[in-house]
Parts: sequence; structure tokens; C-alpha cells
Amino acid sequence: MSAVCVVGLGYIGLPTAAMLASKGDRVTGFDVDRKIVDRVNLGEAHFFEPELDMLLNAAVNTGRFKAQHQPTVAEYYIIAVPTPFKANKQPDLSFVDDAVASIAPFLTRGATVILESTCPVGATERAARALAKLRSDLTFPEFGQNANPSDVGLAHCPERVLPGRMVHELVWNDRIIGGMTTDCAEKALTLYKTFVAGKCFVTDCRTAELVKLVENSFRDVNIAFANELSSICGHMDIDVWKVIELANKHPRVNILSPGAGVGGHCIAVDPWFIVDGAPEHTPLIRAARNVNDGKPLLVAREIIAHASKFKRPVVACFGVSYKADVEDVRESPALEIVKELLSANVAVLVCDPLVKVLPQSLANHPLLETADAEAALGKADIVAFLVGHSAFRALRRADFSTKIVVDPIGLSRLIDGASETHA
Ligand SMILES: NC(=O)c1ccc[n+]([C@@H]2O[C@H](COP(=O)([O-])OP(=O)(O)OC[C@H]3O[C@@H](n4cnc5c(N)ncnc54)[C@H](O)[C@@H]3O)[C@@H](O)[C@H]2O)c1
Repeated sequence: MSAVCVVGLGYIGLPTAAMLASKGDRVTGFDVDRKIVDRVNLGEAHFFEPELDMLLNAAVNTGRFKAQHQPTVAEYYIIAVPTPFKANKQPDLSFVDDAVASIAPFLTRGATVILESTCPVGATERAARALAKLRSDLTFPEFGQNANPSDVGLAHCPERVLPGRMVHELVWNDRIIGGMTTDCAEKALTLYKTFVAGKCFVTDCRTAELVKLVENSFRDVNIAFANELSSICGHMDIDVWKVIELANKHPRVNILSPGAGVGGHCIAVDPWFIVDGAPEHTPLIRAARNVNDGKPLLVAREIIAHASKFKRPVVACFGVSYKADVEDVRESPALEIVKELLSANVAVLVCDPLVKVLPQSLANHPLLETADAEAALGKADIVAFLVGHSAFRALRRADFSTKIVVDPIGLSRLIDGASETHA
């Protein structure tokens, strides 16, 4: 059993910390946010994730997990802090830099520092250089060289969990373990083996960093293709869902679903880290990002065009989270659409059973109200389906048959039974 310090108790750090504690490790969680620390010590997660409260409660009650406002001495450090991009789309590593600086005074010989945050290629080596400057009394490995057992180890072990299935996927997903050296990877592997039932693949940290970015870029490029297809079909007045359904009958074609855009803190962000690292080599990844970033505006324009036919239009927006069945609104395309509507002076009714708190700028807007589905459908002239929450499947076609419907996510085809025709 190891002593582990998890830095950053958010969507990734908190479930990881609770999981490690459930396997017997002694875990200290460090977060800069005092409210999070206090809440976690009560055994409560500060966000909803199935099964997490149970896991966390048990971890806190057994005394194997406690949160605090500073790091501590440990054998392993797992860094899971945000890695957003700056206004110019370059990676913002300031949170990682701060996290690295904060653990430096606590490091001891032979400890292992694992970066779980999604990072641009080279970030693990950058962390090693920063630590070496701060702790000249310790030794650190060089990329690809043989390590000394007393070196502080560094590794990148990216996270792939899906919100809503995190506790299950933490255990069952395959993992990529990328070390500065083979020894570093082996040390990190020892820790992950305590709770990962999926396969662990060992590689170097540069490869691991790129693998994570590539996974999300693959998704982004394929979603962009589907989104572009929806524009083409709109232009040609052809049903995009029928085109995709029939094209996917080809044994080697698998077109993804179009939507209102791509949101969240991963797929909408990570491809830019590759573009930043290889600007001359990424025309496709950049174009895909632009297609997906442009989608909310296309949807908003379609709604506004319909709204212009009404004297005082009211639009019911179904769903404002960044994707279906989550409460998270980070980088949400649906919220971008809402903002566009409001700036065009269109009144908006937000109907989202999962999102309890809207960003302050929207919550206080005079043209915005929240409403349940029945009230929203009762008052709206236009219904926009923006996020496919499972709860919306309970709607009946008759509920919105007299409304103008804008449906970039194809939700209405799933209501009252989808149809597939074949001879
Ligand atoms: N959320 C996901 O589904 C997901 C999936 C895969 C990868 N990731 C990656 O994991 C990383 C973390 O994402 P997240 O969703 O958990 O973020 P988050 O915002 O939910 O949590 C980050 C936490 O770190 C804390 N923090 C910030 N700076 C700190 C510092 N210097 N020291 C200590 N604590 C600090 C914040 O207070 C916050 O509680 C990101 O790189 C993200 O891209 C996230």
C-alpha cells in the first residue's frame, strides 16, 4: 500500500483519490479551493457522478482519504489540475506549473510524480525541468535515459473516463502509462495496477501525451465530418439522419452523429494542443476544430431566422449542458446558442433537468427564464433541441407538433419511436 497525494480534486482527481483509498492506499487530496476540501472531508462530492458519493464516503470514513489545503510527503503524486487553452488557443499550463511548484518542497528521493492532466507533448519533461530547478538536492531522470533508483520518477498517465461512467471506467478502461524512462513507467504502473482491471500499456511520456491528444482529435475530426454533412444536407434539403443511416449500412462506413457543436473541456480543447505543437502539419485537425466551433452559430442563425417571423418570439432551448446526460456546462455549444439568441433580443426559456446553475451572465439576463418541459412547450413559438438528455425522450410528438422545431441533434426522430425502412 502506498502513500499518494492527489493534486486537484475535480472530476478526475476526486474519483481517482477515492478509488485509490478504496484499494487500501493512504491518500491525501490537495486542492486550492477550500470549499472543495471541506465538502470532500464530509464525504460529499462537489459534483454529481454515479457511485462516487458511496466510494468517497467509504474512503473518508475508513480514514484512508483526507483532503487538505496543501500537499504532503508521499510516494506518489498524481496531478489532475485543469489544462485549458489561452485566448490564442495555445495551451495554458499555468495550473500544472503551480501544482508542480506546490509539491516541490514535499518531494523525497525515489518519489514518483504522475501527470494525469491532458497535456501538450513535452509537458512531463517541462515538469521535470521545473522540479529540478526547485530541488537541486534531488536527482531527476532525463527522457529515455536509464534512471537511478533514487531519482524522482516522472510519468504521464492520461485519463479516458467518460463522465457519468467514471467509477466503472476508472477500473475497466485500458490505460497508457508513459514514463520519462522505463523505470519511471514501471513505478507508475505499480500504482495503477492496484485499481485498474483493464490492460495497462507502457510507453514513453511523449508518446503517451500525444496518444491522449490524438484520441480526442480523432473524435473531433469525425464529428466535424458529421456536422459538415448536416450543413450539406440542409443546403440540399435532404434528411441528414437518413443519409447517415443508409451510408452506415456500408460495412466499412461509420459516420458519427451531427449535433449543435462540440463542447466540454476535452474534445473542444485538446486538438489545439496538437495544432500548437505542429502548426504546419495540422490543416485537417484545425479545419475540424473550426467546423465544430462554427456549428453553434449556424444553429443560432437558423433559430433567429425563424424567430424573425414573430413579433415577440420565445424560444424553448432543450438542454444547455455540453453533452447529453451531464450537468457540466463547460464550453457548452448550447450555451453559446443561447447567448447568440439573447444578443439578437430573442427571449429564451431554458429547459434542462440536469443543469441547476447557469453562468451568472445568463442567469440574470432579463430575456432568459428557466422552465420545465411542460411550461417551456406551453409558452414557446420555437422549440430548439440542443442536448439529447435521456429525459427528453419522454416527450410526445404531439407536445410540439404546432411549434417550429430546430433539431440539430436529431432528437425528434427518437420520440414516439424511430423508423427504419427496409425491404
Ligand atoms: N473531466 C473529464 O472528463 C476529463 C477526462 C479526461 C481528462 N481530463 C483532464 O483532466 C484534467 C483535470 O480535469 P478536471 O475535469 O478534473 O478539472 P476540474 O476543473 O474538475 O478539477 C480541477 C481541480 O484542480 C484544482 N486546482 C487547480 N489548480 C490547482 C493547484 N495548483 N493545486 C491544487 N489544486 C488545483 C481546482 O480547484 C479543481 O478542483 C484536465 O487536464 C482535463 O483535460 C478530464
